[in-house]
Amino acid sequence: MSARGGLQSPVADIARQARELLVQVRESRWPGFDTLSQQSASPSTPAPVRKLAAILREEPSPWSTLEQIAQAVSACTGCPLHATRTQTVPGEGASKARLMFVGEAPGADEDRLGRPFVGAAGQLLDKMIAAMGFARDQVFIANILKCRPPGNRDPLEHEVAACLPYLLAQIALIRPEVICSLGRHASHALLERKDSLGKLRGRFFDYRGTPLLPTFHPSYLLRTPADKGAAWKDLQLIMHRLKPSGPEQHSPEEYDR
Ligand code: URA
Repeated sequence: MSARGGLQSPVADIARQARELLVQVRESRWPGFDTLSQQSASPSTPAPVRKLAAILREEPSPWSTLEQIAQAVSACTGCPLHATRTQTVPGEGASKARLMFVGEAPGADEDRLGRPFVGAAGQLLDKMIAAMGFARDQVFIANILKCRPPGNRDPLEHEVAACLPYLLAQIALIRPEVICSLGRHASHALLERKDSLGKLRGRFFDYRGTPLLPTFHPSYLLRTPADKGAAWKDLQLIMHRLKPSGPEQHSPEEYDR
């Protein structure tokens, strides 16, 4: 385990070496770099090139505070969603949160208020956080996309590629001990795999050295309350991981209403 509880694995080590090589590519001033690093937002670019481009855009992060990231997000025109948003929703919470939740994208309420998870799903997420023994402002809550997709449609691949550098920069600054991805879209985007959420949820993955646990999205739980018990088990795994200085456990009834 690293100093902040992150996993050290051969895969994380290889990923780190790959990122270091990509930084060297950037610093070599290779003339193709600028073109390549802009390709992550183009839907016609092949997926592997988009991934490489996203990594090239990502390292090193030009931002040293969460406020700087929020400012960059508010000025972002990196994908077509900027044209239809009311407000950007960069995310909010403790700058040194031990636990970070990552959802999919802002909905209508979030787009109106510029804050993540403030609608019905947000109220359930608040109860889940409280049941874990945290106050909302002790964790950090963000989304894969910082702008609302029109009509709440699913995020598109090129939107995710364009937006992910902001989330990665937030994770790098906060350095949470655990990340909890909420739902299929957030889990797929972070883990870069397309297994069903049923297969992914309830176990830890190594996300660039940080333990990541996928669980159900609160919107899904509102539609499928029968799965709240399984979600509570997932959250308990996180609480166990955050011990010994973790929060006191509350009863599931606190969010299972
Ligand atoms: N759903 C999300 O994924 N994020 C929000 O902020 C709100 C609803």
